Amino acid sequence: MKKSIIAILAVLAFVAAGLMAGAAWAEKTKSGEVQDSFKIDNTKTFGTLTKSPVEFTHKKHTDEHKVKCDQCHHVFKDKKNVWKEGDKVQKCAECHKSPKQNEGEMLSLYNAFHKNCRDCHKEAKKGPQKCDDCHPKK
Ligand code: HEC
Ligand code: HEC
Ligand code: HEC
Ligand code: HEC
Repeated sequence: MKKSIIAILAVLAFVAAGLMAGAAWAEKTKSGEVQDSFKIDNTKTFGTLTKSPVEFTHKKHTDEHKVKCDQCHHVFKDKKNVWKEGDKVQKCAECHKSPKQNEGEMLSLYNAFHKNCRDCHKEAKKGPQKCDDCHPKK
């Protein structure tokens, strides 16, 4: 009896520590919570991935690389980005639905990511630009 109570307490302590670590790790933005760094993985849209998922340093991009939220997040109205900090953030794939082929003027998910991420690194001449820098060989 006593042993099982100790076992339950041990499990509870473990879960609580896990939750606290999780809370400290996730960044609270005005637009909601997001992990400081995470793997971008759109297996749902791409089907099986042919490249390794990209580790994206979300917090570092805003804090250290000084990239503004609206350089990546947008909602276009009459060709103008009306998204502002505090507004909800949708997944890129919710709008860029087609995996590889653009649909009219709407970039495919593949092109949306590469245009946003790689073009900035190319222009800035910093940050990963080669395939394997973002998609490390497994
Ligand atoms: C360099 C690009 C970039 C910058 C700058 C950036 N984000 Fe993000 N953010 C992303 C990407 C990519 C995702 C993941 C989207 C996906 O999975 O489709 C994301 C996800 C999020 C999410 C989680 C959405 C969800 O439901 O999963 C929130 C909230 C968020 N960002 C808020 C912000 C805020 C607020 C700022 C500015 C302080 C910001 N972001 C700056 C690229 C960026
Ligand atoms: C609410 C819908 C929506 C979401 C969510 C969205 N996009 Fe877009 N995106 C659009 C639309 C619409 C356009 C076309 C704008 C135009 O040309 O008038 C566009 C254009 C773009 C462009 C080309 C224009 C530019 O700014 O350079 C890139 C790159 C892009 N999106 C990347 C992304 C990425 C990366 C994400 C996720 C972080 C994302 N988009 C999330 C709707 C969305
Ligand atoms: C508007 C500019 C801009 C955009 C957009 C952008 N980045 Fe970056 N990124 C940078 C800069 C600046 C660095 C830092 C380069 C350095 O100092 O070596 C960087 C560095 C990185 C690094 C190296 C790790 C780090 O944080 O130092 C990775 C990985 C990366 N970016 C992935 C991405 C991905 C994935 C996206 C798209 C979702 C993205 N970036 C969008 C500017 C940008
Ligand atoms: C700056 C970072 C960056 C660079 C450089 C980059 N990619 Fe990507 N790529 C991404 C991101 C982010 C995604 C979306 C990842 C996801 O959802 O798994 C992606 C998705 C893909 C996908 C679709 C998903 C899959 O695994 O099948 C392919 C294919 C791909 N990239 C190939 C390439 C090739 C080839 C190059 C070099 C010519 C390249 N990428 C360079 C960031 C990058």
